[in-house]
Amino acid sequence: MRPDYAEKIPNNVGLAQDRRLQRALESWQPNFLSWWESMGPALPTKDVYLRTAIDVRGDGWATFGHVPMLDYRWGIFLADRAPGRQIAFGAHKGEPAWQKVPGEYRAELQRLIVIQGDTEPASVEQQRNLGATAPSLYDLRNLFQVNVEEGRHLWAMVYLLHAYFGREGREEAEELLHRNSGSEDSPRILGAFNEETPDWLSFFMFTYFTDRDGKYQLGTLKESAFDPLSRTCEFMLKEEAHHMMVGTTGIDRVVERTAQVMTENDTDDVAAHGAIPLDVIQKYLNFHYSVSLDLFGSETSTNVANYYTAGLKGRWLEERRQDDHLLTDDAVQVDALIDAGDGELSIAQTEVSALVGLNTDLRAQYVADCAGGVKRWNRILAEAGLPQRLYLPHVAFNRHVGAYAGIEASPAGEILTTAQWAARTAQWLPTDTDKAFVRSLMQPVRERGKIAAWVAPPRGAPRGGGINNQPFDYDYVHLA
Ligand SMILES: [Fe+2]
Ligand SMILES: [Fe+2]
Repeated sequence: MRPDYAEKIPNNVGLAQDRRLQRALESWQPNFLSWWESMGPALPTKDVYLRTAIDVRGDGWATFGHVPMLDYRWGIFLADRAPGRQIAFGAHKGEPAWQKVPGEYRAELQRLIVIQGDTEPASVEQQRNLGATAPSLYDLRNLFQVNVEEGRHLWAMVYLLHAYFGREGREEAEELLHRNSGSEDSPRILGAFNEETPDWLSFFMFTYFTDRDGKYQLGTLKESAFDPLSRTCEFMLKEEAHHMMVGTTGIDRVVERTAQVMTENDTDDVAAHGAIPLDVIQKYLNFHYSVSLDLFGSETSTNVANYYTAGLKGRWLEERRQDDHLLTDDAVQVDALIDAGDGELSIAQTEVSALVGLNTDLRAQYVADCAGGVKRWNRILAEAGLPQRLYLPHVAFNRHVGAYAGIEASPAGEILTTAQWAARTAQWLPTDTDKAFVRSLMQPVRERGKIAAWVAPPRGAPRGGGINNQPFDYDYVHLA
């Protein structure tokens, strides 16, 4: 079905044929807009060069144009239905995918959708003030693109809650607008989504590491036996690719600029030259990677085993896995803290049933993906002729969830005493001084084709390198 743009809420789910649902969503719409006005981007703009989804297929799925942000057409788009789709895993493997929510799994499915839905507006809230300090109009536009699409992802989850979960679903949809990132009384559900994103280095790290967690979570929900959830997530993943690009190339450009200043001045101390020292970049990386690992939950989880067996949530690329997709007889190694008997704890592995270890499976995919980013950034350093390298810290480093939550460990993975940790943490995590320094660099640049000194322009600038084949120096944003 092609999206209907004449509707108040653009959609390809036949909303006009379901008056009750349409009315319910139309009454949620003003609440969404007032949330956007009070919690969304704070910088006033006239219009922004934005991508809007208009289809779910092929190259023509989006259009680009200057739009006032409040007029953005947030819509409801599900990927096409695959005729005859069967459940690919778990106890219901081989049965037709569900078009309705089975009563026995209602509570669990609703919970999964609420948790995913809660992250979407959270990141918009976290990024609310970044517009004030954007390093270029190109970056400012990318920030707003990510923001409007996270808003659309909220719509995607709210649609499912309204359409399939009755009154409780509608109440949860309201709650998604009432919880707020970092709020004392009603914080967002997951820890990483209550952290601040106070500067653009944090933003690039967030879109690299935390949006990437989102990619993997959506990947597991895309496998769901509940077909509308699967199709929703499939389309969200398409938009998510841009968010990954913003993070990956954002960090590329920070590293590139730092490397350039290091070689030009033959010094590691680039702060004096207005660039971000490599060790500060590493500390930000350490922080964002470790809080994102926490989002994968404990190494073992009976809940997740049950979700899998029930068909609610699969593995990353489930259908490409060469096994029985039941996992009842399989075992895996997971990270653990082992007491050898002498009271001495060590970082080690332990064997558990594959079903119980599914969080570990997903996290392993994510870690391998993150390693790809580090490789890219190190190539930039190598090409600049520099011997320094960035790295991913050990999984035990700075963890607050899972097997290593109760210990302190160095980025190399040695267990530390509380005193050792306290003495050395400033080498590994951003200090107040680091943060203040990074913040001091965040002076907005709002002239077309210009860019702040701490970050390189995208490759191909100024004549290319932009969005939708536009040049870097295009007028991406008209400020109010
Ligand atoms: Fe999202
Ligand atoms: Fe995202």
